[in-house]
Amino acid sequence: MGAITKLRKYLLARLRRGVLDYAADGVGVWGKNLSFMHEPKFAAAWAKSRELNKEGWVKSKRGVPEVAWRAHVACWAASRGLALEGDFVECGVHTGLFSVAIAEFLNFAQQPKKFYLFDTFAGLPDYALKPAEDTGRTINDRKYFDVFDIAKRNFAPYPNIELVKGVLPDTLSAVDGKRIAYLSIDLNNVVGEKAVIERLWPQVTPGAIILLDDYGFAAFADQHDMWNDFARSVDRVIVTLPTGQGLLVR
Ligand SMILES: C[S@@+](CC[C@H](N)C(=O)[O-])C[C@H]1O[C@@H](n2cnc3c(N)ncnc32)[C@H](O)[C@@H]1O
Repeated sequence: MGAITKLRKYLLARLRRGVLDYAADGVGVWGKNLSFMHEPKFAAAWAKSRELNKEGWVKSKRGVPEVAWRAHVACWAASRGLALEGDFVECGVHTGLFSVAIAEFLNFAQQPKKFYLFDTFAGLPDYALKPAEDTGRTINDRKYFDVFDIAKRNFAPYPNIELVKGVLPDTLSAVDGKRIAYLSIDLNNVVGEKAVIERLWPQVTPGAIILLDDYGFAAFADQHDMWNDFARSVDRVIVTLPTGQGLLVR
């Protein structure tokens, strides 16, 4: 571990103990109103999602990531979509940390919409894998495995949520011709995300939110640059949130 990383960890630990009201997921704040985290409907949805997603994160040392603020943004963005024409689409699902939270928060089984969840449900496809120079290991070795059965179980209570298994963008034919009222993209690779947005943009309903999970993370600069090029091409600007998410309005 480098000296700067050690110093950062030390300072963060000190700050957590004494000053910050929220410190997780690379975000630390004080003096902000964080009541959204304790709002009963959101808190229950998030707790349930964390519980149901535990098995999906067994390869990760820290288990289910503490990304409540990101989940709050996802629930808000999806809730806007309820009033718009079209269905919900998430590209990059894993075992559904965000999509279970959304489904619970919005009582999705009662909504007159469908929610399409696209993933290989077995990690990044070969074209997107970059083996580490020193170990030769990929993100699939470190993090992913076949989670399809866990995902199926997590969404079984929702007859209107459909899992679409396979490599994007080929599987997008499942939503051909459909309007989209909420779109979330979280593929951890630039090739897949570019292909998805170029295909789906015309189907997204004006006013709908497109939520980008990786946009503002320093480690995903290639995705950030691709998204900015795309936004420019459709005359939009993406807002970077402190959570690292990007928000693009259709
Ligand atoms: C960071 S995870 C998504 C996490 C998810 N949003 C959640 O709430 O837990 C990225 C996912 O993208 C999927 N993925 C990446 N590229 C893909 C592609 N081209 N086709 C299908 N799935 C892909 C991986 O299988 C992985 O599950």
